[in-house]
Amino acid sequence: MGYDPLLMKSYTLITGASAGIGEASARLFAAQGRNLVLIARREERLQKLKAELSNVDVKILAADVTDAAAMEKFFTTDLAGVSIDVVINNAGLALGRDPFDQYDFADVETMIDVNITAFLKIAHLSLPFLKKTKGHLINLGSIAGMKAYGGGAVYCGTKHFVHAFTEALRQDLLGSGVRVTTIAPGNVETEFSIVRHKGDKAIADAVYEGFEALQPVDIADAMWYAVSRPSHVNTELMQVMPTDQAGITVRRT
Ligand SMILES: NC(=O)c1ccc[n+]([C@@H]2O[C@H](COP(=O)([O-])OP(=O)(O)OC[C@H]3O[C@@H](n4cnc5c(N)ncnc54)[C@H](OP(=O)(O)O)[C@@H]3O)[C@@H](O)[C@H]2O)c1
Repeated sequence: MGYDPLLMKSYTLITGASAGIGEASARLFAAQGRNLVLIARREERLQKLKAELSNVDVKILAADVTDAAAMEKFFTTDLAGVSIDVVINNAGLALGRDPFDQYDFADVETMIDVNITAFLKIAHLSLPFLKKTKGHLINLGSIAGMKAYGGGAVYCGTKHFVHAFTEALRQDLLGSGVRVTTIAPGNVETEFSIVRHKGDKAIADAVYEGFEALQPVDIADAMWYAVSRPSHVNTELMQVMPTDQAGITVRRT
């Protein structure tokens, strides 16, 4: 099923495009001929990706998504007049794996700031563009947005927020033609665990040991599936799991 060629000059905006799922989405959407707007903090990674994806036009913003003023300026000034018909609201992180009372509260705040406040800001700034193009907002939820586990109280809470928000937003947007999808992956092998465990590679690697985790491209592929359906089809929620994972902590060992 093809993508509407009339919209091929539009842009797909991806937050968290410098690694993992966001980077894989940039590659897959570029392979489909989609122009890109890429946001993340690590500028050299975005520049490298832009150089590689030379078949499409790529605009980059090296910034922290929690910088509300920078996001506001970028969307309302730098992107003014740009047609954006897909937004992948993907930047997010977990920090720590301890019982809640043992958390460093600064980590709690960072997860809330990135996974909720900045996520909402990006959605809010994106909707005027998506209403114009009858576009598609893809929000990165998680299996952690459907179930919770000890040591992940705050991260799971933020992802439950994403799921609830997306469900309500669908209702707010009825009649606008804007599609909204939550993608809820199980374990994907990315930098997610190394970030969570603050650079401790041994602990991070152990997360993916003994079973075959998803790769970032598997999630990019699910996004492309949702985007490339006909415009009257809204793929509401896609839970994508490794074959070896049958629950949030139930994995083949
Ligand atoms: N990996 C999994 O198993 C899994 C499962 C379910 C859901 N998810 C969700 O998928 C999304 C992507 O995660 P991933 O696995 O691809 O992780 P990742 O490899 O660590 O990539 C995270 C991306 O987010 C960006 N980012 C983080 N904080 C940011 C900030 N303050 N400002 C701007 N960009 C920021 C990072 O870029 P910079 O560091 O360059 O800023 C990076 O590009 C997250 O929302 C995560 O919760 C992941």
